[in-house]
Amino acid sequence: MAVANAVEWTRRHLIGLEDLSREEIELVLDTAPQFLAVQQRESGIKKVPLLQGRLVVNLFLEPSTRTRVSFELAAKRLSADTLTFTSANSSAVKGESLHDTLANIEAMHSDIVIIRSGFAGAAAILARRHRSHIINAGDGAHEHPTQALLDAFTIRQHVRARRDDPEATLDGLRVAIIGDIANSRVARSNIWGLTKLGAHVTVCGPRTMMPPHIERMGVEVTSDLREALVGADVVYALRIQLERQATGAFPSLREYIRLFRVDNDSLKVAPRHALIMHPGPINRDIELAADVADGPRSVILEQVSNGVAVRMAVMHLLANSASVAPEGPL
Ligand code: CP
Repeated sequence: MAVANAVEWTRRHLIGLEDLSREEIELVLDTAPQFLAVQQRESGIKKVPLLQGRLVVNLFLEPSTRTRVSFELAAKRLSADTLTFTSANSSAVKGESLHDTLANIEAMHSDIVIIRSGFAGAAAILARRHRSHIINAGDGAHEHPTQALLDAFTIRQHVRARRDDPEATLDGLRVAIIGDIANSRVARSNIWGLTKLGAHVTVCGPRTMMPPHIERMGVEVTSDLREALVGADVVYALRIQLERQATGAFPSLREYIRLFRVDNDSLKVAPRHALIMHPGPINRDIELAADVADGPRSVILEQVSNGVAVRMAVMHLLANSASVAPEGPL
């Protein structure tokens, strides 16, 4: 299997898209289609031996369905050995520190460790002290880089198909991200990634869910859903973290739905070609109407399918690129 450009990748870890250049993001997006083809093989084995003999460890200290399963499947399709730890079945519940947990995993010769944690900065801290390749699978409200990479990949696929141009880029594309921006690592990684790729990003939500100075990230800010949706090529709804309702981030669910739900009514002002996206899990009929989530413009399950190929590309680039130092700090 020929994998183009792998020698150009120089990073040992993937912590966030804030760190990456446009060229590095595009290298991941350009590497992923080869892995998509592996997944889509109708006959033969949906596997390549690129991580054969390597150990990939999923260390998930927060709940996850999509990301955990996707990384595990991606590692298996690269022929790696895989182990998955969750907070419930690890000694973290007995008070073991994250460093000690990882030191013990590394004593069993892990090559790649994928970490999800509720603490912003957890992946970066581990990357400074440990020798495995660290991939951030979501750290607090900080970043979720592989989610944003698979989102950009999915958007780019559709832009290229709609324009019938296999080289089309995201330059000038209009993306509206709707919801709880302040608490969203998905929003943050998407803002870094999409703006670097040349898209115009508008964030929309209640003022209480908008981080201060968010416009410094190069986005437009509004609390008017229709203003955000006019001209949007992509409408990206975020999960409302219902657990935060008690903290007063929004007055009532009914009020949130009335003002911010993406549904067929609010979408009347959006272009007919607008893609509907969501990272999952969805609160149906709260941030996103169920019929829109399941409708013809929705690419939500394509995001999930593409996630496996994008994560295969990330792991391959980190572990197999000739320009990555064999061991070293962030
Ligand atoms: N998109 C996402 O991170 O979903 P999970 O929490 O299920 O992994």
